[in-house]
Amino acid sequence: MSKQSLDRILQSQGFGTRKWCAGLVAEGNVSIGGEIVTDERQRFETDGLEFSVYGEPWLFREHVYLALHKPADYECSRKPSHHPGVLSLLPEQFSNRDVQPVGRLDHDTTGLLLMSDDGSFIHKQSSPKHHVPKVYVATTHDPVTPQLVAQLLQGVKLNDEPAPLSAVLCETLDEHRLKIVLEQGKYHQVKRMLAAAGNHCSALCRTQICELKLESLGLAEGEWCYLDEAMLASLKPAV
Ligand code: URA
Repeated sequence: MSKQSLDRILQSQGFGTRKWCAGLVAEGNVSIGGEIVTDERQRFETDGLEFSVYGEPWLFREHVYLALHKPADYECSRKPSHHPGVLSLLPEQFSNRDVQPVGRLDHDTTGLLLMSDDGSFIHKQSSPKHHVPKVYVATTHDPVTPQLVAQLLQGVKLNDEPAPLSAVLCETLDEHRLKIVLEQGKYHQVKRMLAAAGNHCSALCRTQICELKLESLGLAEGEWCYLDEAMLASLKPAV
């Protein structure tokens, strides 16, 4: 439990500098419990605090945990160069509070992307030590064969990797589609593994992280949602 002044609260939630937030309050743009609050120094208990800015309701969140259905032609990097960044798909409050993608998807990869401003969550989800399984559906240029599946399961050697990398699970979905589960997150890993096994990945979608399935979120491409407690629990690896 902690009480904070309204300008600090708004700043922590990504509404701008403390001075800017003080101005938002003084100009009557912020209300709590249906009442406009004009004193930026008034203190409120942050736990469970609901407030509105320009009539839009917000809930105080110490950290934010989001899922985005990433469309193609968006970059995950902080300084996108050829395509817009994924942060441009979210309200600007999130980039102001340093929300970042958890790991990276290539600009042409679609699917489930987690985002957060909680460094420890980002670390746990992306560290190879935590073995977070990620499920991809890869569309292949050449037909999927039992040999391709076997090779991906046995392990393929990539140029800059000392040891062969293998899929935890690999299944044929149809003639040109493969479900592949990885626990590492090496650069272009699925595409490079398919190339090393003699095929070519022509489209890639991440459909699941740990037990959290993209389809269960009901998000169209470009849409995002907050992760609730149950969704966060489904992201904890079993180990
Ligand atoms: N593997 C790839 O090759 N690309 C991605 O975006 C994710 C995994």
